Amino acid sequence: MSKFYDAIVVGSGIAGLSFALKIAEAGHRVAIITKKNSADSNTNYAQGGIAAVTSQTDDVDMHVADTLDAGDGLCDEHVVREILKDGAASIDELARRGVAFTQLDDGRVSLGKEGGHSKRRILHVKDVTGKAIEQALIFGITESANIDVLEHHFAIELITASKVRKAREGAPDDKVLGVYALNSMTDQVETYAASAVLLATGGIGQVYQFTTNPSIATGDGIAMAYRAGVEIRNMEFTQFHPTALYANDSDRFLISEAVRGEGAILRNFAGEAFMGRYDRRKDLAPRDIVARAIDSEMKQSGAPHVWLDARGESAEVIRDRFPNIYDHCAALGIHLEKDMIPVVPAAHYLCGGVKTNLNSETSLQGLYACGEVACTGLHGANRLASNSLLEAVVMATRGAEALKRYLSKAEPESFELPDWKDGDLRDSDERVILSHNLDELKRTLWDYVAIVRTTKRLQRARTRIQNLEREINEYYWNFKVDESLLQLRNMILVAGLIIDCALQRKESRGLHYTLDYPNKCERAEDTKVSKI
Ligand code: SIN
Repeated sequence: MSKFYDAIVVGSGIAGLSFALKIAEAGHRVAIITKKNSADSNTNYAQGGIAAVTSQTDDVDMHVADTLDAGDGLCDEHVVREILKDGAASIDELARRGVAFTQLDDGRVSLGKEGGHSKRRILHVKDVTGKAIEQALIFGITESANIDVLEHHFAIELITASKVRKAREGAPDDKVLGVYALNSMTDQVETYAASAVLLATGGIGQVYQFTTNPSIATGDGIAMAYRAGVEIRNMEFTQFHPTALYANDSDRFLISEAVRGEGAILRNFAGEAFMGRYDRRKDLAPRDIVARAIDSEMKQSGAPHVWLDARGESAEVIRDRFPNIYDHCAALGIHLEKDMIPVVPAAHYLCGGVKTNLNSETSLQGLYACGEVACTGLHGANRLASNSLLEAVVMATRGAEALKRYLSKAEPESFELPDWKDGDLRDSDERVILSHNLDELKRTLWDYVAIVRTTKRLQRARTRIQNLEREINEYYWNFKVDESLLQLRNMILVAGLIIDCALQRKESRGLHYTLDYPNKCERAEDTKVSKI
């Protein structure tokens, strides 16, 4: 027996929570499905902040120009303008919801600087901006009588008209009808019916061996959308953050770009401040350029990392602006006022994803996508730092407005949705294979589909991923599903989409750099993958 909501939101980061609040405030019933606790999201890890034009000496045209420049010819300029013009309004909204942006002693808001920005325009809450936003939104969610939060529920599959009646997948009358979700507390798959579903599942960093992303970033929304026949684009553009803390294990703690914004510089093992050899903007060049420069320095010297030198500032200044980073490093014996920080690039953000229009609508009726899972056209081939939290808030607002209009016309389906059928009720006795496969997936992507690519490496990766895909599908159909199996299935699918898009792009642009096609094509075009 299925439970009905006006809207189901899958994911509980800034995009999902903002969207849910707006729909609930309009009197609609909303369920938030989240695979862990509601506070576990990529948003929590955003240190730098949220880019918006709020100062007299800045203007939206400059923010647009910086975004287009970072995006390397692939941004949709109309989309860029529409999203960025709402920056100040989005900041006001977050402040109304209780986010206390850091202020200077004279009462003005403190504005940080990051790579690719020609102005100081990053609003922040010290170096824990994401966490502060998440807390404010969660407070609003817990106060709302119209929102049910289903924690420890793993959304497995979108239920569509084409799956339960005779509509053709991808045809105009196909639409989303709900979600199957595994309740990890009871091990039962539950059926949720809804007039609309928002995917707000965040990114994919976990498909790589080294990532700044938390364990939840496994591309679940992209995988679900793809299986439902929805168009996905530009998956080759994984952004590698230039400065993750180097450690002997696979953990990659983020050292915010804002640290370079305050004057820290990168040095190689010979002590040289090398960025001047790569770009006139030096350490504050856009991320694709800085990450490639570090990769090249490491390859030339054979060193396992480069250094980030923030020793120009006193301990008080650094601790005041970056308390989280300062404490994390200090706990490892790295004292920023006297020690350099060992840093390496790590997978950080996906610029492609589920294609949406400016209303957060996807190609499937009733299905919306917002935040990192979505590809609106704002980021192009390389996201400008701190544009993503802004995109999430603006697109949640636009999507919620569109959904309210949709709900005012939508007629709920009158029939009961079919229950989930488990292929087989046996538990697998070979779970060790899943962890081996996960390991192989992460290494394959890191070794063959990272910062510098070649066609041969991509083809090798594709063969390996196809083998993993065959194996995981066998598991999926033969055993009782659980979270690790479902998650790995999604990650393998997403890895395949990244490789397919990377093979389609016969040029080097933004975050996609291949030795076989080092130049840019004259015409900038999106890559696309879709099941139908
Ligand atoms: C950072 O603080 O460097 C990350 C912010 C972002 O990814 O936009």
